[in-house]
Amino acid sequence: MQKQRLLHHFTTISNMEHKLLHPRIASASLLLALSLLVSATSWAGPKSYSNAITSPSKQIKATVTLRNGRPCYSLVYKNDTLVLPSSLGFVLQNRDSLTRFSLVKASISKFDETWKPVWGQYSSVRNRYTEMKLELRDLKKSRLVNLFFRTYDDGFAFRYEIPEQNGVDDIVVTSEESRVKFAGSYRCWWSWADYNTLEKTFYQTSLDSATHVAMPFTLQKSTGTYITMHEAAIDRYSTMTLKRENASTFKVNLAPWGDGTLVKCKKSLKTPWRLFVVADRPGGLIESNLVLNLNEPCKLTDVSWITPMTYIGIWWEMHLGIGTWSMGPKHSATTENAIRYIDFAAAHGIKGLVIEGWNTGWENWGKKGAFDFVTPYPDFDIKKVVDYGKSKGVAIIGHHETGGDTQTYEQQLDSAFAFYKKVGIDIVKTGYAGPVTPEGENHHGQCMVEHYNKVMRTAAKYKIMLDVHEPIVLSGLSRTYPNLMTAEGVRGMEWNAWSEGNPPSHTCTLPFLRGMAGPMDYTPGIFDIDLSKYAGKRQKWNDLDNGHSAVHSTIANQLALMVVLYSPLQMASDLPENYEGNPAFKFIEQLPTSWDETRVLDASIGEYVVTARRKGTTWYIGAISNEKARELSIPLSVLTAGKKYRAVSYVDGSNAHYETNPEAIDIKTSTVTKADRLTLKLAAGGGATIRIEEVK
Ligand code: NOJ
Ligand code: CA
Repeated sequence: MQKQRLLHHFTTISNMEHKLLHPRIASASLLLALSLLVSATSWAGPKSYSNAITSPSKQIKATVTLRNGRPCYSLVYKNDTLVLPSSLGFVLQNRDSLTRFSLVKASISKFDETWKPVWGQYSSVRNRYTEMKLELRDLKKSRLVNLFFRTYDDGFAFRYEIPEQNGVDDIVVTSEESRVKFAGSYRCWWSWADYNTLEKTFYQTSLDSATHVAMPFTLQKSTGTYITMHEAAIDRYSTMTLKRENASTFKVNLAPWGDGTLVKCKKSLKTPWRLFVVADRPGGLIESNLVLNLNEPCKLTDVSWITPMTYIGIWWEMHLGIGTWSMGPKHSATTENAIRYIDFAAAHGIKGLVIEGWNTGWENWGKKGAFDFVTPYPDFDIKKVVDYGKSKGVAIIGHHETGGDTQTYEQQLDSAFAFYKKVGIDIVKTGYAGPVTPEGENHHGQCMVEHYNKVMRTAAKYKIMLDVHEPIVLSGLSRTYPNLMTAEGVRGMEWNAWSEGNPPSHTCTLPFLRGMAGPMDYTPGIFDIDLSKYAGKRQKWNDLDNGHSAVHSTIANQLALMVVLYSPLQMASDLPENYEGNPAFKFIEQLPTSWDETRVLDASIGEYVVTARRKGTTWYIGAISNEKARELSIPLSVLTAGKKYRAVSYVDGSNAHYETNPEAIDIKTSTVTKADRLTLKLAAGGGATIRIEEVK
């Protein structure tokens, strides 16, 4: 490995010298001379350079150039140019810039490892790439900047580093000058960039209508190739959006600090990776592990306490407005109600119960210092509830709603986690519903990146798993900190309780956009779809509620979402009484939440998705459709030849429709083999799930 690295390094350097100097004097002594020059104040290294790296399969090729000092990259997939030369650099405060450089050193290396996630879509992940590192010196003030480029079989990524060095102290970025100039014509799927929320619906437009887009951003070129742009390993930096500059060029834009600057670092800086997942099929995007592979290996030595699970919650009743978070006659988080939920969970193999509205402060939600994270309401005996849950095999998931008041939360963070650990709680859902403190900061700016990552690291110290609502966009940090289990950051189920809701096409788009960032706590699994039985009982608590809420899907679709939308903490979000007696709940009882393998069998972004996941020898298939009914014929080629399987299908009943007949569901059993095809009749807003178990 080291040898290979050196070999590439020397090949590259001598190539460079051949271009710029006399060919016969490319030698070790020349290298020495070059490195001596580095320390001179006026660096005279080469300002032009070009080299390329290809992915192991040779299908992806990235060319990196320095033209008159300006670094650029371009990207080619199967001989089709996706990205034309696109420039890189920074503008720093006081009109300082880092945009023109000379080359100090170029090196190319290869890397290949297979690692085992603690939980996820796969039990084993190959991480194989070719990397080019350019060590550059800026022409203005001789500062060192490193650029890293990696080609994988499923994509490409780059990042910057300003390493620690003399003369560099405070680094304040006022513009990241990374651009992407797309080659050719594209259609794309995107949501409006917003520095404070990711809870949006999506658009499908041509590239020139995508003006300011949130990450992840997904495109399809007219040649057929799919691309998702995103970022990985967001830490001590801000989160990015993309702003269109002209018909084909986008510029990286960063959520600002309250004072208008973008990134502030001391002594050194490392940007997140800016990445492109590239695939022939839409499903290939979902199957990619690029985001995780671009993160560092697990930093926790003991991960035995990290357990994925299905969970239910004292949650939907508050969103419906039939229970309350604050104490009063309809308070939901009472000892008695918690015991009722625990009994249901225990009887149905559900391993977790989130309880919201357990602590004092909800009556002041929105005010600074409202929440107290260690004081339960008097009608909630936390110790009794946790102990009862333990005796029944049900873990209580704690809840820290901050209302966005991160200053108060940080003050209480240690005592809040210590309190939960003392009573026996190892999983915490956090929430940031409201404008953040310090006032003027954005949810997605560096200020909050530092906050979320501090909570993640502190939770790891306390051996606490996290489910983060209103988060910054995920970027694969859970490879490094697998206690960061899941996050919302999606227009999830709650919107169906108190707004016009989410259209069926929303969940058919999600896996290709927000889902590309990482697990989604969408909280699916509502069985009482039209909510009509609560008419007259619901207390309006949200301005967006027009009194006619409904879940825009069939029950079969709700089940399928639990397979299609990955989360290691997967919620069945309805009330126990709506599940009781419904045989379809069996599917949820048996559902794993960490997988050995994931394959997308068929998909069209925004229209339908068929995802298969394997645990041991059992496959779980989830299929969902948008507003249109459709019939799909899916080959069962993922099954093992020569084996016989029992398939239990939960499918839309005949005449099922998400608006007029959402609860019609048929459960059927059949025998299948690898040679069979599944015929899936999906209703409008419908779905199907199939559990396929080997017959021994
Ligand atoms: C918004 C979260 O997404 C939701 O799950 C939670 O119930 C409320 N905030 C209250 O904390
Ligand atoms: Ca939310």
